[in-house]
Amino acid sequence: MNQFEIKRLVDQAYEKAVLDKEEITALLAADISDLDYLLQKADQKREEICGDEVHLRAIIELSSYCKQNCYYCGLRKENEKLERYQLEKEEIIKTAQMAAELGYQTVVLQSGEDEYPAAEITEIINEIKNTTGMAITLSLGERDFAAYKLWREAGADRYLLKHEIADRALYEKYHPGMSFDNRIESLKYLKTIGYQIGSGVIIDLPGQTPEIMAEDLLLSQDLELDMIGSGPFIPHQQTPLKNGKTGTVEMTLKFTALSRLLLPLAHIPATTALGTIDDEGRQKALLAGANVVMPNVTDSKYRTKYQIYPEKICVNEEAGDCRQCIGGIIASLGRFVSQDKGHSLRQN
Ligand code: 5AD
Ligand code: SF4
Ligand code: FES
Repeated sequence: MNQFEIKRLVDQAYEKAVLDKEEITALLAADISDLDYLLQKADQKREEICGDEVHLRAIIELSSYCKQNCYYCGLRKENEKLERYQLEKEEIIKTAQMAAELGYQTVVLQSGEDEYPAAEITEIINEIKNTTGMAITLSLGERDFAAYKLWREAGADRYLLKHEIADRALYEKYHPGMSFDNRIESLKYLKTIGYQIGSGVIIDLPGQTPEIMAEDLLLSQDLELDMIGSGPFIPHQQTPLKNGKTGTVEMTLKFTALSRLLLPLAHIPATTALGTIDDEGRQKALLAGANVVMPNVTDSKYRTKYQIYPEKICVNEEAGDCRQCIGGIIASLGRFVSQDKGHSLRQN
């Protein structure tokens, strides 16, 4: 693709938020050195839609137990080398309250597929809401629809459930025993009962192609996602994909930029995985369409045990360290930390 053609497609995406599968594929396949214009227009769109404020979401990794066996993930059940932990209810509530004191406006309750008792999650939601008023995102994997409903009624605001890869065959190969349809149906159901929904994609998973990533973006548009994230694949030695190749910063940035242009109202995080493969990864994403960062607030004694992929950043830091670090990164870009909850822009 020549510069003229790239500019035409980027301008069309910028103006109409519409590209077809071939067009998205062509942009994703183009050499990043030709794509300054894409990143620049995505940054411009971010500025118009979100301004210079960056939303922070504090993550509590509340359990590393998981009943699934995703081919890429270090928390998979068959990884017997991983020492597991599960936080008590009181510990989760205390951590959330500490996050509120650090100024966070959203807490993300995240875990492997642990089947943490639904009633306890409800109590945690109630207690966090009553004592902090923070927005609550749940990221607990696939649960039965009754649990989603219960938690929504208890006041949970958002649900994060990544579809990971939009190719059914690859999805089902890498997620033994799981169903692509159930994943998508869960996201749709969550939206109908009033959750703001987030999804995301692992960039450069083995077998992932620009065509499939184009499908990821088209599916994300169809689902009217309130949030879309993307992080590079990082091979983990205790998984079947240990010999896979690490995803690239370039592809992650292209995907981030196209996410901003094709889903202009979405919240887009600069992911920890991108920060892990490149010291400046999160900064680069914040300059290519991203407007959210999700720092860890889990007590440091658990952090090494939540090893989704190796060398994950921030495992030796405490919540306060990460809050400061992120504040510095955001300020260094001439941006600022938002003072509000950062609800979906689609509802305004
Ligand atoms: N590399 C990058 N991201 C990963 N995830 C899991 N394993 C990896 C990996 N090896 C992401 C997935 C999943 C979340 C738990 O972390 O997107 O949703
Ligand atoms: Fe479990 Fe999620 Fe990891 Fe899959 S990606 S093994 S569901 S923690
Ligand atoms: Fe954790 Fe920078 S965000 S140390």
